[in-house]
Amino acid sequence: MDDLAALTAALRDASPREILAAALERFGGDLVIAFSGAEDVLLVEYAHQLGRPYRVLSVDTGRLHPETYRFFAAVEARYEIRVEVAFPEAAAVEALVRRKGLFSFLEDGHSECCAIRKVEPLRRHLAGVRAWVTGQRRDQSLGTRTEVAVVERDPVFRGKDGAALLKFNPLAGETSASIWELIRALELPYNALHDRGMVSIGCEPCTRAILPGQHEREGRWWWELAGSKECGLHAGNIARHGDGEPR
Ligand code: ADX
Ligand code: SF4
Repeated sequence: MDDLAALTAALRDASPREILAAALERFGGDLVIAFSGAEDVLLVEYAHQLGRPYRVLSVDTGRLHPETYRFFAAVEARYEIRVEVAFPEAAAVEALVRRKGLFSFLEDGHSECCAIRKVEPLRRHLAGVRAWVTGQRRDQSLGTRTEVAVVERDPVFRGKDGAALLKFNPLAGETSASIWELIRALELPYNALHDRGMVSIGCEPCTRAILPGQHEREGRWWWELAGSKECGLHAGNIARHGDGEPR
Protein backbone atom coordinates (compact mmCIF):
# COMPACT_ATOMS: atom_id res chain seq x y z
CA MET A 1 0.00 0.00 0.00
CA ASP A 2 1.52 3.39 -0.88
CA ASP A 3 1.48 6.39 1.40
CA LEU A 4 -1.67 7.92 -0.04
CA ALA A 5 -3.60 4.67 0.06
CA ALA A 6 -2.57 4.18 3.71
CA LEU A 7 -3.65 7.71 4.60
CA THR A 8 -6.94 7.31 2.77
CA ALA A 9 -7.63 4.10 4.64
CA ALA A 10 -6.67 5.62 7.99
CA LEU A 11 -8.93 8.62 7.44
CA ARG A 12 -11.91 6.75 6.04
CA ASP A 13 -14.14 7.27 9.07
CA ALA A 14 -12.36 10.28 10.51
CA SER A 15 -14.15 13.50 11.41
CA PRO A 16 -13.09 16.78 9.77
CA ARG A 17 -11.13 17.73 12.87
CA GLU A 18 -9.39 14.37 12.96
CA ILE A 19 -8.48 14.74 9.30
CA LEU A 20 -7.02 18.17 9.95
CA ALA A 21 -5.18 16.85 13.01
CA ALA A 22 -3.62 14.04 10.95
CA ALA A 23 -2.59 16.51 8.25
CA LEU A 24 -1.04 18.93 10.75
CA GLU A 25 0.71 16.19 12.64
CA ARG A 26 2.25 14.83 9.49
CA PHE A 27 3.22 18.07 7.75
CA GLY A 28 3.38 20.82 10.41
CA GLY A 29 4.78 24.04 8.92
CA ASP A 30 4.97 22.37 5.52
CA LEU A 31 1.19 22.60 5.26
CA VAL A 32 -1.11 25.56 4.62
CA ILE A 33 -4.83 25.89 5.15
CA ALA A 34 -6.29 27.68 2.14
CA PHE A 35 -8.89 30.09 3.44
CA SER A 36 -11.21 31.85 1.01
CA GLY A 37 -12.95 34.10 3.53
CA ALA A 38 -16.20 32.13 3.56
CA GLU A 39 -17.56 29.30 5.71
CA ASP A 40 -14.21 27.53 5.47
CA VAL A 41 -13.45 29.56 8.61
CA LEU A 42 -14.42 26.31 10.32
CA LEU A 43 -11.03 24.89 9.30
CA VAL A 44 -9.27 27.74 11.10
CA GLU A 45 -11.41 27.11 14.16
CA TYR A 46 -10.52 23.40 14.15
CA ALA A 47 -6.82 24.18 13.71
CA HIS A 48 -7.04 26.59 16.64
CA GLN A 49 -8.80 23.97 18.77
CA LEU A 50 -6.04 21.47 18.04
CA GLY A 51 -3.61 23.78 19.79
CA ARG A 52 -0.63 23.28 17.51
CA PRO A 53 0.92 25.84 15.17
CA TYR A 54 -0.77 26.16 11.79
CA ARG A 55 -0.54 28.36 8.71
CA VAL A 56 -3.41 30.01 6.86
CA LEU A 57 -3.05 31.16 3.25
CA SER A 58 -5.45 33.38 1.31
CA VAL A 59 -5.14 34.51 -2.28
CA ASP A 60 -6.01 38.17 -2.68
CA THR A 61 -7.00 38.48 -6.33
CA GLY A 62 -7.38 42.24 -6.00
CA ARG A 63 -11.08 41.81 -6.73
CA LEU A 64 -12.36 40.59 -3.35
CA HIS A 65 -15.27 42.23 -1.55
CA PRO A 66 -14.49 44.82 1.15
CA GLU A 67 -16.42 42.54 3.54
CA THR A 68 -13.98 39.71 2.81
CA TYR A 69 -10.97 41.86 3.70
CA ARG A 70 -12.67 42.85 6.94
CA PHE A 71 -13.45 39.21 7.62
CA PHE A 72 -9.77 38.28 7.17
CA ALA A 73 -8.94 40.93 9.76
CA ALA A 74 -11.62 39.62 12.15
CA VAL A 75 -10.27 36.09 11.82
CA GLU A 76 -6.72 37.31 12.44
CA ALA A 77 -7.86 39.12 15.57
CA ARG A 78 -9.92 36.26 16.96
CA TYR A 79 -7.32 33.56 16.46
CA GLU A 80 -4.29 35.79 16.98
CA ILE A 81 -2.78 34.75 13.67
CA ARG A 82 -1.52 36.49 10.58
CA VAL A 83 -3.14 35.22 7.41
CA GLU A 84 -0.45 34.74 4.75
CA VAL A 85 -1.80 36.68 1.80
CA ALA A 86 -0.72 35.71 -1.69
CA PHE A 87 -0.92 38.38 -4.38
CA PRO A 88 -0.81 37.97 -8.15
CA GLU A 89 2.14 39.16 -10.21
CA ALA A 90 1.55 42.88 -10.74
CA ALA A 91 2.98 42.84 -14.28
CA ALA A 92 0.67 40.02 -15.37
CA VAL A 93 -2.41 41.78 -13.96
CA GLU A 94 -1.37 45.05 -15.60
CA ALA A 95 -0.88 43.36 -18.95
CA LEU A 96 -4.28 41.65 -18.80
CA VAL A 97 -6.11 44.82 -17.82
CA ARG A 98 -4.34 46.89 -20.47
CA ARG A 99 -5.14 44.36 -23.12
CA LYS A 100 -8.71 43.47 -22.20
CA GLY A 101 -9.99 45.81 -19.51
CA LEU A 102 -11.23 45.00 -16.03
CA PHE A 103 -14.15 42.76 -16.95
CA SER A 104 -12.84 40.53 -19.73
CA PHE A 105 -14.19 37.46 -17.92
CA LEU A 106 -17.75 38.54 -18.77
CA GLU A 107 -16.85 38.39 -22.46
CA ASP A 108 -14.61 35.37 -22.80
CA GLY A 109 -14.89 33.38 -19.58
CA HIS A 110 -13.20 33.47 -16.22
CA SER A 111 -10.28 31.17 -16.85
CA GLU A 112 -7.75 33.74 -18.08
CA CYS A 113 -8.36 36.18 -15.24
CA CYS A 114 -8.48 33.38 -12.64
CA ALA A 115 -5.25 31.93 -14.00
CA ILE A 116 -3.46 35.24 -13.44
CA ARG A 117 -5.13 36.45 -10.27
CA LYS A 118 -5.76 33.19 -8.39
CA VAL A 119 -3.98 30.19 -9.80
CA GLU A 120 -0.50 31.65 -10.34
CA PRO A 121 -0.14 33.09 -6.81
CA LEU A 122 -1.45 29.88 -5.31
CA ARG A 123 0.93 27.81 -7.42
CA ARG A 124 3.85 29.97 -6.30
CA HIS A 125 2.98 29.58 -2.62
CA LEU A 126 2.18 25.90 -2.77
CA ALA A 127 5.62 25.35 -4.28
CA GLY A 128 6.96 26.07 -0.80
CA VAL A 129 4.99 23.39 1.09
CA ARG A 130 4.29 19.68 0.93
CA ALA A 131 0.54 19.67 1.57
CA TRP A 132 -2.46 21.94 1.66
CA VAL A 133 -5.92 21.88 3.16
CA THR A 134 -9.03 23.18 1.44
CA GLY A 135 -12.65 23.71 2.40
CA GLN A 136 -14.03 21.92 -0.65
CA ARG A 137 -17.16 19.85 -0.14
CA ARG A 138 -18.95 17.40 -2.40
CA ASP A 139 -22.23 19.27 -2.01
CA GLN A 140 -20.73 22.56 -3.23
CA SER A 141 -21.12 21.80 -6.88
CA LEU A 142 -23.33 19.26 -8.52
CA GLY A 143 -21.37 19.96 -11.69
CA THR A 144 -17.81 19.34 -10.52
CA ARG A 145 -17.32 18.39 -6.85
CA THR A 146 -19.37 15.28 -6.24
CA GLU A 147 -16.25 13.10 -6.11
CA VAL A 148 -13.97 15.23 -3.95
CA ALA A 149 -11.75 12.93 -1.85
CA VAL A 150 -10.78 13.52 1.76
CA VAL A 151 -7.14 13.28 0.76
CA GLU A 152 -5.64 13.15 -2.69
CA ARG A 153 -2.46 13.80 -4.64
CA ASP A 154 -3.01 17.27 -6.07
CA PRO A 155 -3.61 16.85 -9.80
CA VAL A 156 -2.78 20.49 -10.60
CA PHE A 157 0.00 21.81 -8.37
CA ARG A 158 3.44 20.64 -7.25
CA GLY A 159 4.90 21.13 -3.80
CA LYS A 160 8.34 21.85 -2.35
CA ASP A 161 11.26 20.88 -4.60
CA GLY A 162 8.79 19.97 -7.34
CA ALA A 163 7.56 16.95 -5.38
CA ALA A 164 3.96 15.76 -5.37
CA LEU A 165 1.64 17.81 -3.19
CA LEU A 166 -0.97 16.29 -0.94
CA LYS A 167 -4.37 17.95 -0.77
CA PHE A 168 -6.61 17.42 2.23
CA ASN A 169 -10.31 18.24 2.00
CA PRO A 170 -11.49 17.59 5.58
CA LEU A 171 -14.97 18.99 4.91
CA ALA A 172 -15.52 16.87 1.78
CA GLY A 173 -18.36 14.88 3.29
CA GLU A 174 -19.98 17.74 5.19
CA THR A 175 -22.96 19.73 3.98
CA SER A 176 -23.66 23.42 3.93
CA ALA A 177 -26.29 22.84 6.63
CA SER A 178 -23.92 20.95 8.94
CA ILE A 179 -21.20 23.59 8.56
CA TRP A 180 -23.58 26.44 9.31
CA GLU A 181 -25.01 24.64 12.31
CA LEU A 182 -21.49 24.56 13.75
CA ILE A 183 -20.68 28.14 12.84
CA ARG A 184 -23.77 29.24 14.72
CA ALA A 185 -23.29 26.87 17.67
CA LEU A 186 -19.65 27.91 18.14
CA GLU A 187 -20.49 31.56 17.43
CA LEU A 188 -17.71 31.80 14.87
CA PRO A 189 -17.14 35.04 12.99
CA TYR A 190 -18.47 34.93 9.44
CA ASN A 191 -18.33 37.02 6.31
CA ALA A 192 -21.01 39.74 6.41
CA LEU A 193 -21.91 38.92 2.80
CA HIS A 194 -23.68 35.79 4.05
CA ASP A 195 -26.27 38.09 5.65
CA ARG A 196 -26.97 39.43 2.18
CA GLY A 197 -27.86 36.17 0.51
CA MET A 198 -24.41 35.18 -0.71
CA VAL A 199 -23.53 31.58 0.00
CA SER A 200 -20.49 30.65 -2.08
CA ILE A 201 -18.16 33.64 -1.96
CA GLY A 202 -15.35 34.52 -4.36
CA CYS A 203 -14.39 37.71 -6.17
CA GLU A 204 -16.79 40.66 -6.11
CA PRO A 205 -17.62 40.79 -9.84
CA CYS A 206 -18.08 37.01 -10.03
CA THR A 207 -20.22 36.42 -6.93
CA ARG A 208 -23.86 37.24 -6.40
CA ALA A 209 -26.66 36.44 -3.99
CA ILE A 210 -28.83 33.45 -4.76
CA LEU A 211 -32.57 33.04 -4.52
CA PRO A 212 -34.33 30.47 -2.31
CA GLY A 213 -33.99 27.04 -3.88
CA GLN A 214 -31.02 27.93 -6.07
CA HIS A 215 -27.85 25.90 -5.69
CA GLU A 216 -25.00 27.86 -4.06
CA ARG A 217 -22.83 27.51 -7.15
CA GLU A 218 -25.40 29.51 -9.12
CA GLY A 219 -24.09 32.57 -7.33
CA ARG A 220 -20.66 32.15 -8.95
CA TRP A 221 -19.83 32.90 -12.63
CA TRP A 222 -23.57 32.70 -13.32
CA TRP A 223 -23.06 33.53 -16.99
CA GLU A 224 -21.18 30.25 -17.50
CA LEU A 225 -22.16 26.58 -17.65
CA ALA A 226 -22.23 24.56 -14.40
CA GLY A 227 -19.63 22.09 -15.67
CA SER A 228 -16.94 24.75 -16.08
CA LYS A 229 -17.31 26.51 -12.75
CA GLU A 230 -13.86 25.81 -11.38
CA CYS A 231 -11.35 28.64 -11.30
CA GLY A 232 -8.29 26.43 -11.64
CA LEU A 233 -7.53 25.99 -7.94
CA HIS A 234 -9.44 22.75 -8.12
CA ALA A 235 -9.25 22.12 -11.85
CA GLY A 236 -8.76 18.41 -11.20
CA ASN A 237 -12.48 18.33 -10.41
CA ILE A 238 -13.28 19.13 -14.02
CA ALA A 239 -10.84 16.55 -15.38
CA ARG A 240 -12.25 13.95 -12.98
CA HIS A 241 -15.71 14.67 -14.24
CA GLY A 242 -14.73 14.47 -17.86
CA ASP A 243 -16.45 17.79 -18.38
CA GLY A 244 -13.62 19.47 -20.19
CA GLU A 245 -9.98 20.31 -19.95
CA PRO A 246 -8.47 21.46 -16.68
CA ARG A 247 -8.08 25.20 -16.85
S1 ADX B 1 -13.25 28.35 -6.11
O1 ADX B 1 -12.24 27.51 -6.75
O2 ADX B 1 -14.59 28.18 -6.68
O3 ADX B 1 -12.86 29.76 -5.99
P1 ADX B 1 -14.43 27.92 -3.55
O4 ADX B 1 -14.77 29.35 -3.38
O5 ADX B 1 -15.53 26.97 -3.82
O6 ADX B 1 -13.27 27.76 -4.66
O7 ADX B 1 -13.63 27.44 -2.28
C1 ADX B 1 -13.22 26.11 -2.09
C2 ADX B 1 -11.92 26.11 -1.32
O8 ADX B 1 -10.86 26.59 -2.17
C3 ADX B 1 -11.91 27.05 -0.13
O9 ADX B 1 -12.48 26.47 1.02
C4 ADX B 1 -10.43 27.29 0.02
O10 ADX B 1 -9.80 26.21 0.67
C5 ADX B 1 -9.95 27.35 -1.41
N1 ADX B 1 -9.98 28.75 -1.90
C6 ADX B 1 -10.89 29.31 -2.74
N2 ADX B 1 -10.60 30.61 -2.96
C7 ADX B 1 -9.49 30.86 -2.22
C8 ADX B 1 -8.68 32.03 -1.99
N3 ADX B 1 -8.95 33.20 -2.57
N4 ADX B 1 -7.62 31.93 -1.16
C9 ADX B 1 -7.33 30.75 -0.56
N5 ADX B 1 -8.04 29.63 -0.74
C10 ADX B 1 -9.10 29.69 -1.56
FE1 SF4 C 1 -11.04 37.21 -12.09
FE2 SF4 C 1 -13.60 36.62 -11.45
FE3 SF4 C 1 -11.65 34.75 -11.40
FE4 SF4 C 1 -11.76 36.68 -9.56
S1 SF4 C 1 -13.27 35.02 -9.88
S2 SF4 C 1 -9.93 35.95 -10.57
S3 SF4 C 1 -12.41 38.46 -10.84
S4 SF4 C 1 -12.48 35.84 -13.21
